[in-house]
Amino acid sequence: MNTEPRPAQSARASESGVPGPAPRIVRTVAELKTASRKLLEAAGRVGEEGAEPVSLGLVPTMGALHSGHATLIRQARAENDVVVVTVFVNRLQFDDPADYERYPRTLDADAALAGEAGADVVFAPEEHEVYPDGTPRVLVSAGDLGARFEGRSRPGHFDGMLAVVAKLLHYGNPEAATAVPTPYRAYFGQKDAQQLAIVQRLVKDLAYPVEIRPVPIVRAEDGLALSSRNQFLTDEDREAALVLSRALFLMKERAESRLPLQPDDAVALIASEPRVELDYFEIVDPETLQVLAFNCQDTPFTGTALALVAARVGSVRLIDNMPLTDGVR
Ligand code: PAF
Repeated sequence: MNTEPRPAQSARASESGVPGPAPRIVRTVAELKTASRKLLEAAGRVGEEGAEPVSLGLVPTMGALHSGHATLIRQARAENDVVVVTVFVNRLQFDDPADYERYPRTLDADAALAGEAGADVVFAPEEHEVYPDGTPRVLVSAGDLGARFEGRSRPGHFDGMLAVVAKLLHYGNPEAATAVPTPYRAYFGQKDAQQLAIVQRLVKDLAYPVEIRPVPIVRAEDGLALSSRNQFLTDEDREAALVLSRALFLMKERAESRLPLQPDDAVALIASEPRVELDYFEIVDPETLQVLAFNCQDTPFTGTALALVAARVGSVRLIDNMPLTDGVR
């Protein structure tokens, strides 16, 4: 499978800043396959010998789309011929049934935003399409990767997330639509670093024929990671929340200068802000999410790592993270 991103052949109007045509909304897996096949065939010579392969990018979401999702969709648009956005509120990943009921369902607005960002198709299945027999009896486990950090306060969340991602990756697979090998990429935000690491592991361990493309965090000019939760911060809390990205950037600068990270300094910086209640600040291995306590304090930084932070600011729980590299890799 060709996994090298390349400019899509069928550039849409939306890339030039002009909104593209409204995406087609499909409700069933069968409709999704037909729509994907037609679009892939229209984009190039599917399966013909010597022809450039056409590609499909999948952007899984739970709807209530915002500018962060638009970034994922735009990246998928830039790298693929056909872009599918999935909108499905996955009951299995909610700890509290009331949160699931309350979760915003805004399909028309979602389709409009997805179309503007470059989606060709919005796959918005009903629950019985995804889970025809109710809650699946066999689940993929996130194992120890899902038990720590965010998983500590949300037991079962990551297994529930995997239950749907494992299926969506099958449903979106363009090879199932065209019957010929077709480059296939799926887009996940780096903001949810633990989710991303777990999905990458799913793909590796269960040999899914898809390339997971991480999409970098988008930050406001002052450094705050964009999140739909930021709207619930008061002005004072928003100002206080900046200490999180400052702590992460401190680690980044030290990593790039190959200095000891000394994460205690980051923790002390966060502790100096009384409106912020730290949950965790850890330096971890980006793939295994194992804490890299050893050598962080005194030894010059080499290689790669990931700094993770979660904290409550006022009434809002925020997460953020920063990939760290020694600048050599
Ligand atoms: O990140 C999300 O929105 C969800 O966890 C995902 C990946 C769409 C699965 O429901």
